[in-house]
Amino acid sequence: MPLPFKHLTSTKQLTRADTEEIIRVALEMEKVRKKGKSDLLKGKVLAALFYEPSTRTRLSFETAMLRLGGDVLTAEGIQFSSLYKGESIEDTMVMASEYADIIAMRHPDQGSADIAASASRVPFINAGDGPGQHPTQALLDLFTIKKECGTIDGLHVAMVGDLRYGRTVHSLSYLLGLYKNLRFTLVSPTELTMPEKVTSFLKERNIPFAETTDIAAGLGADVMYMTRVQQERFADKAEYERLKLQYILTKPMVEGKKVVVLHPLPRVGEIETEVDALPNAAYFRQAGNGVPVRMALLAMLLGKA
Ligand code: CP
Repeated sequence: MPLPFKHLTSTKQLTRADTEEIIRVALEMEKVRKKGKSDLLKGKVLAALFYEPSTRTRLSFETAMLRLGGDVLTAEGIQFSSLYKGESIEDTMVMASEYADIIAMRHPDQGSADIAASASRVPFINAGDGPGQHPTQALLDLFTIKKECGTIDGLHVAMVGDLRYGRTVHSLSYLLGLYKNLRFTLVSPTELTMPEKVTSFLKERNIPFAETTDIAAGLGADVMYMTRVQQERFADKAEYERLKLQYILTKPMVEGKKVVVLHPLPRVGEIETEVDALPNAAYFRQAGNGVPVRMALLAMLLGKA
C-alpha cells in the first residue's frame, strides 16, 4: 500500500493504517539489512541536508539508502551552505530537487520542514525542525515499542524530562494517540511541561494523562521514554544549568521491573551507564531500529516498497 502523501513533515499526517504499513515494511527491511544489501533503490539519490547536529538520524538515513543500493549526498552545517549567505529554504529545496530523488532535512527552526516541503519537487522528509517535530524518530520509537512490548494498545507510557522543547515526545504523542486505551504520565520540571498543543490533542482523543514533577510516578509504566534537556533551545544558559539533570535514571530504579526504558539519544547523563546492561534498557536497540524504519520510508516514498 503506497503512503497517501508525498512528503513527511509531521506525525499528525499519519493514520493508524499508515503506521502499521510502515511497521510491516520495516520488518521486511530488517531481513534485507541482515542479508546486507539490496538494489531496490539503485540509481536513486538521497540528499541528506543536516543544518543542525545529528549522529543517529543522519547516519541511519545514509545507511538506509546505501543498504537499498542508492547513493547519498550530504550537507552538514548551515555555515557551509548557501543558507548562510541568505539563500531561502525554498530555493535550496528547488536546487536539491535537481540533484536528488528524495530529500531529508534537519533544520533548527520550527516550521522549516513545512516551508521546505512546499518547495521540494521530490519527496521530502523532516529529520527534525527545531522544537517542532521529528516524525521518523517517532516511527522508529513506535516500531521499538511494538517489538519490545508486543503491542501498543493498552500501554502506560511515561515521558520524562524536557517535554517542552523535546520534539521527539511531541511527534510520538501524536502517533501513540492513534492507538487504543493508552495512558500517559508526563514527568517534567514545571518550566518544561508538555506544550498545550499536545495536551489539547490528548484531551480531544480522551487519552488520560497525568502531569507530575516526580519521576517515581513513571517507574510502574510499561514504557519510560527519557529525554535530555535541550540545551540548544535555551536563550538563558543559566536557566539550562538550573534545569538540566533533574531526573537521572539509575540501575536500582529499574532493575527487575517490567518497564522498557527508551531514549531518543544523545543522552547527557539522564541514564546512568550501569543501566545499559539491563534487559529492559532498549535505547541502543531503539537507535538501531532507525535503519529498517528509514529504509521502509525511503522505499515507500519513492514508490518502490
Ligand atoms: N535521536 C536523534 O535525533 O539523534 P541525533 O540528533 O543524533 O540524530
